[in-house]
Formats: sequence, C-alpha cells, structure tokens
Amino acid sequence: ASILVLNGPNLNLLGRREPGVYGTDTLDTINDRLQRQAAAAGVTVESFQSNHEGALVDRIHAAGDAGTDFILINPAAYTHTSVALRDALLGVAIPFVEVHLSNVHAREPFRQHSHLSDVAAGVITGLGALGYELALQAAIRHINQNAG
Ligand code: DQA
Repeated sequence: ASILVLNGPNLNLLGRREPGVYGTDTLDTINDRLQRQAAAAGVTVESFQSNHEGALVDRIHAAGDAGTDFILINPAAYTHTSVALRDALLGVAIPFVEVHLSNVHAREPFRQHSHLSDVAAGVITGLGALGYELALQAAIRHINQNAG
C-alpha cells in the first residue's frame, strides 16, 4: 500500500519558521519519522513539498494515476484559499487526512475556514509534528480495514 504526504507553501522552512507556532522539527525530521513508522507497518510513504499550487495539483493527479491509497496533506496557506486543491482531491477520490501543526482555530479568523475539511476523512490540528504521525496511523488503519 502507498501513502502520499503532501506539504504546501512555506513548510520547507519548518525548523526556523515561527518556531513558537510551528515547532523546531524540520520537514526532513518529520518525513524521516514517517518513513520509519511506514516501514514498521509495511506501507510505502512518499513525501512531496511545493510552494506552488499547480505543482501540488499535478502531484495529486499523479497519485490518482499511480493508485495511491491514501493522502496526508498539510495544505498550509492553500487550506484557506484553494478550490483547486479541493477539486483535485475530489477528482482523484483518494481519501485524505488534513493536518495542521498549529491549532488553526486558535488563530486569525482567516485561518478558520478550510476548503478541504468537509471532504477530508479527518482533520488533525494543533498537535504539532505529532499530528503527522497520528494521521499516518489513521491512514494505515484505513488501508488495513479495506484490505480484507
Ligand atoms: C498551517 C496553518 C496555516 O494556516 C498556515 O498558513 C500554514 C501552516 C499549520 O500547519 O499549522 O502555513 O497549515
């Protein structure tokens, strides 16, 4: 089984980007942890980060073509703006969990609307880097439940 981890704009700066809000783990550190967790569970994880909306849309389409089983996505600022990402995820019909490091509901009003949440399998927000690991656990369970 294969899981795609997508990260949107500015998440390449993790570790030095507003550490009080987003923590001190780098994206590489987070991805390394997910790789270990995936290997232990016998699933494949591929990670992709882009600062460009269209590149994320293209990667979602490629996941559809490749038969990817599940997506974890932190759409970052595109959460709040992107109908295109919503449509791409609906278009490929791959179940996904939306992840945010910070608790978006405790922040500015413009972060409180997501174009993805109502079509996500679930949303994890405010638990820092742990949120990715919990989302991966949910993805693995989803895949195992649908395997029988
Ligand atoms: C974020 C929250 C978004 O509002 C913000 O634009 C980000 C990161 C988070 O992980 O907390 O870039 O998705």
